[in-house]
Amino acid sequence: KAEQRATLLEINKLAAQYFYYQLRRESGKTAYGYLTGRGLSDETIRKFGLGYSDKYSDDLYKYLKSKGYSDELLRESGLFNVDERRGMYDKFWNRVIFPIMDVNNRVIGFGGRVMGDGKPKYLNSPETKIFDKSRNLYGLNVARTTRKNYLILCEGYMDVIAMHQAGFTNAVASLGTALTSGHASLVKRYTKEVLLLYDSDGAGIRAALRAIPILREAGVTSRVVSLKPWKDPDEFIKNEGAEAFEERLEHAMDSFMFRVHIAEQDFSMETPQGQNQFFERCAEMLLELSDELERNLYIEAIVKEYGRLGVGTEDIRKR
Ligand code: CTP
Ligand code: MN
Ligand code: MN
Ligand code: MN
Ligand code: MN
Repeated sequence: KAEQRATLLEINKLAAQYFYYQLRRESGKTAYGYLTGRGLSDETIRKFGLGYSDKYSDDLYKYLKSKGYSDELLRESGLFNVDERRGMYDKFWNRVIFPIMDVNNRVIGFGGRVMGDGKPKYLNSPETKIFDKSRNLYGLNVARTTRKNYLILCEGYMDVIAMHQAGFTNAVASLGTALTSGHASLVKRYTKEVLLLYDSDGAGIRAALRAIPILREAGVTSRVVSLKPWKDPDEFIKNEGAEAFEERLEHAMDSFMFRVHIAEQDFSMETPQGQNQFFERCAEMLLELSDELERNLYIEAIVKEYGRLGVGTEDIRKR
């Protein structure tokens, strides 16, 4: 078993080197141009070991066969599709490749992006004996070595890479899968606070709302950063630069107040009745807080925020 894991890691390492080399060849020019066109420097491309899987669909297979690996092991690697008619062939075809590393810098899987609008936008390695998606975070191998006392949690490969390139090397991503308690306890090993920088669309907001209690249960507090009007960290940095980004981080919103603001959208706040229902909801949320001091502080925060509606501390406390 341990032996098989070691061999799978070896296969992934060879594949990563192979993709890396493909990106540097003449046939990888378009892919290299795609990455630099998205603002990545050569240094960044190297740091993240980015690569390219070319237009042949059996070359990685042949390469690894030439190294003597059995079909059975290659199947376990998740790098190949198996088809009755075609046999085994490369899973990644004409995509830029993002190797996924564990905290010990070992390649445990891959993501591959189409260079354009094709579907699916990303293909990822399946879970294997060495790749547990709910226990790994992209970028954590680097982020864990930074001195910052918080981690930045975002959605995507390009977000992590863009942030690292801009100097925010404490960024990690949970890669398409929703945040799990496994991720949260992994985070807890390195820090007690997370800034959530999910995409500023409905899916990103829902993901943040789901992540907050999962992190809290693991003992990690979170704050939420708005990237509006931009879609994600990558786009924000490209359009507004690192300084404006830093500014947004400094204005991260406390996760409880974030939930209050989202809740507000469920009510017609122009009417007294809607306001009343909203404060009722706030009172319910406050009851989730077991710490009385904490509860009082949030009552004050809500009053400060919505005092213009004529609500006072006692109005909320009485409910
Ligand atoms: N994802 C995935 N499969 C997809 C779409 C997304 O696995 N078909 C994962 C990827 O890890 C991706 C993340 O979810 O990085 C966030 O998705 P999305 O916001 O759609 O992509 P971006 O990271 O913004 O990708 P890009 O900037 O390259 O368009
Ligand atoms: Mn190939
Ligand atoms: Mn998204
Ligand atoms: Mn993006
Ligand atoms: Mn995105």
